[in-house]
Amino acid sequence: MKLIDARKDHYRKLAHEEGYRSRSSYKLKELNKSYRIIGPGYFVLDLGCAPGGWTQVATKLVGNKGKVMGVDTSFVEEIPGVHIVKASVDSDSVVEEVFSFFGKKVNVVICDLSQKKFMKTKRTKPQASRKPSSELYCICLGYGN
Ligand SMILES: C[S@@+](CC[C@H](N)C(=O)[O-])C[C@H]1O[C@@H](n2cnc3c(N)ncnc32)[C@H](O)[C@@H]1O
Repeated sequence: MKLIDARKDHYRKLAHEEGYRSRSSYKLKELNKSYRIIGPGYFVLDLGCAPGGWTQVATKLVGNKGKVMGVDTSFVEEIPGVHIVKASVDSDSVVEEVFSFFGKKVNVVICDLSQKKFMKTKRTKPQASRKPSSELYCICLGYGN
């Protein structure tokens, strides 16, 4: 078994044992450990949230003073305390739902949308982009193949 597959397998098992819906949960946990994106009392919008692994982690991190809303085109099984909207993130109704659910600005938007419609995606930083600049480009090739 390749190392990458063994690692995936490890996190899948761990997710099962700890009651998370996907091994993605551990990606957000790790990111939050390094960057402290989400904290107690935060209002968090989770775009592309199904099956809900990140949403579960966000819910724990914000605690009972925070709020979490998840959006996905796929069905997401209920997560206590979370407002889940079944819609595409670019639909007008989502904007309305965000305003009415949070009633103020959100602290964090987390987004794990995947692009199944492309054959290949690649992150790149052209040489003409200054090193200190945070610019990063995502090249998406082979639409609809
Ligand atoms: C990698 S999964 C997200 C996994 C999730 N973060 C978790 O931890 O369980 C990507 C999700 O993006 C959703 N998605 C893709 N395009 C979307 C769109 N336009 N609007 C809403 N959701 C979308 C897919 O349905 C899929 O569930």
